Order: sequence, then structure tokens, then C-alpha cells
Amino acid sequence: MKVLVIGGGGREHALVWKLAQSARVDKVYCAPGNPGIARISKAECVDLKLSEDFAEARQWARQNGIGLTVVGPEAPLVNGIVDAFEADGLRVFGPSRAASQMEGSKIFCKDFMLEAGIPTGAARYFTESEPALAYLKTLQPPYVIKAFGLAAGKGAVVAPSFKEAEDAVRDNLDRAIFGEASQRILIEEFLHGEEASMLAFSDGETVLPMSSAQDHKPIGEGDQGPNTGGMGAYSPAPVVTPSLEKEIFETVLKRAVDGLRARGIPYKGILYAGLMIGPNGEPRVVEFNCRFGDPETQPLLMRLETDLVDVMEAVVEGRLHEIELKWKADPAVCVVMASGGYPGDYEKGKSIEGLDDVAEDDSAVVFHAGTTADGDQIVTSGGRVLGVTASAPKLEDAIARAYEMCGKIRFEGAYLRTDIGRKALDREEA
Ligand code: AMP
Ligand code: GLY
Repeated sequence: MKVLVIGGGGREHALVWKLAQSARVDKVYCAPGNPGIARISKAECVDLKLSEDFAEARQWARQNGIGLTVVGPEAPLVNGIVDAFEADGLRVFGPSRAASQMEGSKIFCKDFMLEAGIPTGAARYFTESEPALAYLKTLQPPYVIKAFGLAAGKGAVVAPSFKEAEDAVRDNLDRAIFGEASQRILIEEFLHGEEASMLAFSDGETVLPMSSAQDHKPIGEGDQGPNTGGMGAYSPAPVVTPSLEKEIFETVLKRAVDGLRARGIPYKGILYAGLMIGPNGEPRVVEFNCRFGDPETQPLLMRLETDLVDVMEAVVEGRLHEIELKWKADPAVCVVMASGGYPGDYEKGKSIEGLDDVAEDDSAVVFHAGTTADGDQIVTSGGRVLGVTASAPKLEDAIARAYEMCGKIRFEGAYLRTDIGRKALDREEA
């Protein structure tokens, strides 16, 4: 079978890497892909324009006999790529435009959670800054302000002071810094606790939860500083105990898929729950995403034993009940190497040295996220540049191996957090 993966970041590198391991897959195309993906022997990067109606991508998929298209990022999902491919009779893995509102509209998602009884923080929404500021004055810091639409991961602000909260409100409602996504905002209860990610495959009826994972959102050591797309991840996340995993499955993942189906929206694809585990172990949903997490996908797929094509086909064909997911017991860790200055302004085009000095195998892979080819040289092209991922029987060894690999790679201004996985080690020790 020929597979097409849409996207070109670390998540897509991990998806292509895993899909290419299937004996049933002859070729994996990736649009646009990246130089790390291009090095996989079954893979080929292609340039496809994703227009509003996805016409070029659909035509290309038909002409090239693509048996399955897998959509990595949220933007094309929210813009209806799945509906467009299905209308052409193409097999595609991902939620429809309606189902993708779980990520595409913070307000749709929050209303749905409150109606369906999915545990989450209280929230109110506003379209004018004066009533929003009046409401903020009734709350205690920190304040949580979110643009209602997609804002490339920058729409949520956790403001430690009233002044910063006011700026976030005005940036959206008075200055519309995210355009249409800024038209409305959500002011949300701040949730205390430790974050965890639980992802599931769903065919609209059956929900198959994955192993747990944890991201590291803030840029700085010890979770200080502004949020990023994610500076590292590991799986499993010991904060999610077996009983908590069951609770999250019942009250979050399954309740969401059942609730959407009852509203006439079958949810097919990946449902990602970003959770805050409170001080008494109570899970509450911070957000839903309609796709794999980045960088959680890198350690998750390194641990997945089941053939990913089998799982994705079962989702598309509505027979996920036939599938059992098998996980390697070894924990896996992904350390993100980022461009200096990220998540603020950063320079691009820095030569990346040492990639060939890293000894890679099934349990040690340098996933490319923001890289591009400049002649024979691989150079940086994004904020998050590489997701250096390793697994080992013991978590501390997986962490050590990932950092040892990072130590071989150099580019000007390279930045990484040195405490990825620390929270899991602390739990092991405790
Ligand atoms: P979101 O875009 O909704 O995923 O928010 C981005 C990040 O902001 C989350 O991963 C959390 O770290 C933080 N965050 C968002 N909402 C809240 C909340 N209600 N309470 C605490 N932290 C939050
Ligand atoms: N790692 C968080 C996300 O993918 O949204």
C-alpha cells in the first residue's frame, strides 16, 4: 500500500518512521516532509499545495493510488481536509471538520464538555474587553485567557498579574492579534496540578486509549517561562496511575466520543486530551486536540508495537473493536533541541553538525522538526528543530541516552531543557 502523510514536523517524522515499519506499506509520501523524513528508505517528500478545497492534494492522491492519507497537523483538519478527501472516495485518517471543532473552537469544546459532564475548569466567554476586564477583577491570579480559534499554539495565556491579563484581553478583543481567532475569548479557571496527555484512537464507536505521556510546555528549566509547543515528552507518565487511566478513559475519552456521536458528530481519528491532574489526583481537561501531540508522538510511537497501518485502517473502516494495542514496556523520552530565542524571535538557516555521529536504531532516533536542506547541508528552519528520542528498560537510561545523542549534535544557538523526564524520575524515587 502507498500512504500519504500530511505535515512536516517532528510528529510527522515519527508517523512516517512508524508507518514505514509496516510490511504492508511499500511507500510513504510526505507533504511537505523534511530532510529527516527524506532519509527513510521507503519515504519520499512531495510538495503539495493545501488550498482551501485541497484540490491539488486530492488529485495527487488519486493519481498516485494512495491507499491511506494520514493528516498530522490541526489546521487542515479544522479546514475540512477529511471531508474533502472522503467526498472523492479517498481513504483518510483524521476527524471531519465538524469533529475537529474540539480543537478548532475553544468555545464549542468548552460548551460540549460542560454539557456532556466531562471534568474541566469553569469558564466564561466575551466579545468586548470592558465586560471581560470587569469579570477578571472578580478573579484571583493567575488568570487564563484564550483566543477562541486556532492561533498556532499561541492563543492561551496564563497571566501571573492583572496587567498581563488585561494585555491579553486587549490583544485579542481590541487589537485582534490572531485575526478571526481573536473575535471571542474564554476566561478560564486556573487549574492547579501536574499536566498529562492521554490520546486515543476512535472510529466513532470504539475508543482505544494509548499509553499515557507527558509534555514539557514551558521553555525554561523547572517549568519556568513562556509556553512553547513542547520542549520534550516521555511515555508512560507515572502521574497517570492505572486507576486514573481507567477514570480518564471513562469520564473523558469515552464520554467525549459518545457525547459527540449523540450530537450527530462521529469522531474518527486521534482524540488528544490535555489534562491537569489535581492535587488529589482528580483529572480535569485543559484542552482537546484533534490529532497526535507533538512531541508526545515521538515517544508514544517508539513504544507502540502494533502495526500503525492496521490501527488506522480499522479506524477508517469502523472496525476498531478488532484491534488491540500493544506497548513496549520500556519508557521512551524525547528531548527537543530548539533555536535560541524560541518561543520568541529566532534566527533560521544555522548549519546542523553531528547528525551522522549519532548511532541510531529502533530505540534511538533523531526526529526532525524544523529542518530544511540547503544543498547537502541540513540547516535549522523552525523554533523546535529536532526531537531526540530514546527508549531503554529504565527511564534514567532512556533520558541519559537521549541527552548523550543531543551532545553529539551542534548548531549555533541550540537550546534544550536539561530536566526532561525529571518529574517522572522524582515519582519513581518517592
Ligand atoms: P491550551 O492552548 O489550551 O493547550 O493551553 C496551553 C497551556 O497553557 C496548557 O498546556 C497549560 O500548560 C496552560 N493552561 C491552559 N489552560 C489552563 C488552565 N485552565 N489552568 C492552568 N493552566 C492552563
Ligand atoms: N504537545 C502539545 C500539542 O501537541 O499540542
